[in-house]
Amino acid sequence: MSFRGRMSYGDYLSLDTILDAQHPLSHAHDELLFIVQHQTSELWLKLALHEMEAACTAIATDRLDVAFKMLTRVARIFEQLNGAWDVLRTMTPSEYSEFRDALGQSSGFQSYQYRAVEFVAGNRNTAMLTPHAHRPDLDARLRAILARPSLYDEAIRLLARRGFAVEAERADLSQPRADSDALVAAWARVYADPAGQWDLYQLAEKLVDFEDYFRRWRFNHVTTVERIIGSKRGTGGTSGVAYLRRMLDVVLFPELWRVRTQM
Ligand code: HEM
Repeated sequence: MSFRGRMSYGDYLSLDTILDAQHPLSHAHDELLFIVQHQTSELWLKLALHEMEAACTAIATDRLDVAFKMLTRVARIFEQLNGAWDVLRTMTPSEYSEFRDALGQSSGFQSYQYRAVEFVAGNRNTAMLTPHAHRPDLDARLRAILARPSLYDEAIRLLARRGFAVEAERADLSQPRADSDALVAAWARVYADPAGQWDLYQLAEKLVDFEDYFRRWRFNHVTTVERIIGSKRGTGGTSGVAYLRRMLDVVLFPELWRVRTQM
């Protein structure tokens, strides 16, 4: 039972570092909940990014089965992040008010990893680089993601390799893609004959599944936020709930949603 000189559970997991990383700035009982909820979300986002970036490479190298496994895991990560809101919802406005001032201007709006998830998926909104300009290391990592094809770009490149008439190359990968009727037509052919190209059909559904869970995360977030702060401005400086409601309209894979109208 002695671990003197041997690696223990806590050594392997760097538990001293992780469990010593909660530093409430007030005496409010609920601030620890708030910190743990954010930190665990960031850990899961780290894993989601790891899987999403590997899925991009797997699609680019035509290893679709590998990508499917990773994308399934990403959807499950968001499913479980969605469940986590139920813990945070136990905090009332009175309890949050006890420590809100201590947060200053810090906000999830400045979550580098959340932005990275959006950028990797395909939502290339370069205005969201600004909150990271003061951190050249994070800014460089986000710009490196923007310089590479997104998950959706890789799916479109795959369609082109399979002979579909879609515009796969983009002059500037960091900019948003233009909506494409040709892409809707390509997905329509995939959905019209699932057995004919089962892997493309499965890829389409994996992407929709990811976006579905991601949307639920956004919805849970805005509902939790409204429940806790009503329509007060956010600590990050946006209009708060009104801003988050606008974000519900952001679509990651537009043609995969548009094609459903045609079926
Ligand atoms: C009491 C709980 C929470 C409140 C009151 C809250 C409030 C807000 C508000 C008002 C915004 C808009 C930006 C701003 O002006 O600050 C925001 C953005 C954001 N929050 Fe939260 N939040 C909470 C919990 C969380 C948690 C647990 C996470 C998990 C990481 C999170 C992640 C984010 C992210 C990623 C954004 C940016 C969303 C976007 O730009 O689309 N928030 N939050």
